[in-house]
Amino acid sequence: MNSAEKMKIVSIVGARPNFMKIAPFIRAIEEYNQNGQVKIEHVLVHTGQHYDDNMSKAFFEALNIPEADINLGIGSGTHAEQVGQTMIAFEKVVWQEKPDWIVVVGDVNATCACSITAKKENVRLAHIEAGLRSRDMTMPEEVNRLVTDRLSDLLFTPDRLSGENLLDEGISGEKIKFVGNIMIDTLEAQRKKAAELTIEDILRTNCMEGHIDVRSIGLSSDFALLTLHRPSNVDDPAVLTDIVHFLTNELTKDMKLIWTVHPRTEKQLKAFGLWHKVLSADGLILLNPLGYHELLRLNMAAKIVLTDSGGLQEECCVLGTPCLTFRWNTERPITLREHGGASVLVGNDVGHIRIGYSQMRQENRAPSRPELWDGKTAARIVQALVSDQFPKKPSTGEIP
Ligand code: UD1
Repeated sequence: MNSAEKMKIVSIVGARPNFMKIAPFIRAIEEYNQNGQVKIEHVLVHTGQHYDDNMSKAFFEALNIPEADINLGIGSGTHAEQVGQTMIAFEKVVWQEKPDWIVVVGDVNATCACSITAKKENVRLAHIEAGLRSRDMTMPEEVNRLVTDRLSDLLFTPDRLSGENLLDEGISGEKIKFVGNIMIDTLEAQRKKAAELTIEDILRTNCMEGHIDVRSIGLSSDFALLTLHRPSNVDDPAVLTDIVHFLTNELTKDMKLIWTVHPRTEKQLKAFGLWHKVLSADGLILLNPLGYHELLRLNMAAKIVLTDSGGLQEECCVLGTPCLTFRWNTERPITLREHGGASVLVGNDVGHIRIGYSQMRQENRAPSRPELWDGKTAARIVQALVSDQFPKKPSTGEIP
């Protein structure tokens, strides 16, 4: 390798769960550039799928992500609209930037759209968080994962189970790099800062207007923490109504519940006539979508987490918070009890949720750390991209 060698990477974010995956990647590029033999130029593209300040800007600020070089301004829409418009806009970015690599993270519509565009333009594609499979084709994310992994030239997996999934699908082992979970890089980099926040401040600053008198919260005792946003849980009025009744009539009689409400869920609670019920429920504290450190701080203190988020399942695993996952399947089996994690699947049937809750609420924190969830995943990824772009030349006398 000579010192003149350069490499250009375009990476993409679109929605909230992407931001904690890209932050350590950008930092690892900056660190590599201080001493590395290749000069990496990095261009960050935000598709604009998530656009509210508390779904996007707050994460850029909290995680020190530099402002995106390009924002495609896609916004909300149907799946075809989001994917189609992103592809049309991103194609022009590829023409203009001519990158050596396009790097996508996670499984949102931005991930899938930019992967297709990358390969149509014959640019090498790398996927961070490859190989996760729920086997549930009704999940839009599963479609995104399958498309992205099928097209990728390098597939960075968070655990060994994901690598096995890819091999089973016929993907060549040479393309698969087991690097660990990049989300945990962010968790390790930020947990000290999160620990400095006080729970009362978080509630005071983020409570939904007019909902609570913060002085009366009295969180000295145990509390549960809830997030919910999957279409399977919030788009069907019967399902969401049953869940809300369980929360307001049963769970909150046992312990306080902090619910950080996703915009999609707020919209559906209002559409299904449930908004007043949650607003007026005793023991239920409704919060706006939280920043990274705020949610992490609550997770560190919660007695139990109830969620349908993939990222929270992973964070609960490392923090050891008992986690009731409101899904019938997971693309992250490594976070489940049977693999040493903290999460149990209870679907969205209240009978299962009730049983799971009464068992899990008795349990103590039990942290576990899957292999290579060590906070150094991003550095491994950057090294692998450079090595793949500039493979070591055989020294004189060696047979290539
Ligand atoms: C998307 C991802 C999902 C991820 C989730 C995290 C896909 C297919 N889904 O789902 O994998 O777990 O993000 O949040 O990419 N909205 C706002 N403001 C925003 C963003 C959205 O009000 O900044 C509202 C809009 O009404 C929108 C709805 O939320 O229609 C859903 O947003 P969308 O980006 O389509 O999907 P998510 O449910 O957030």
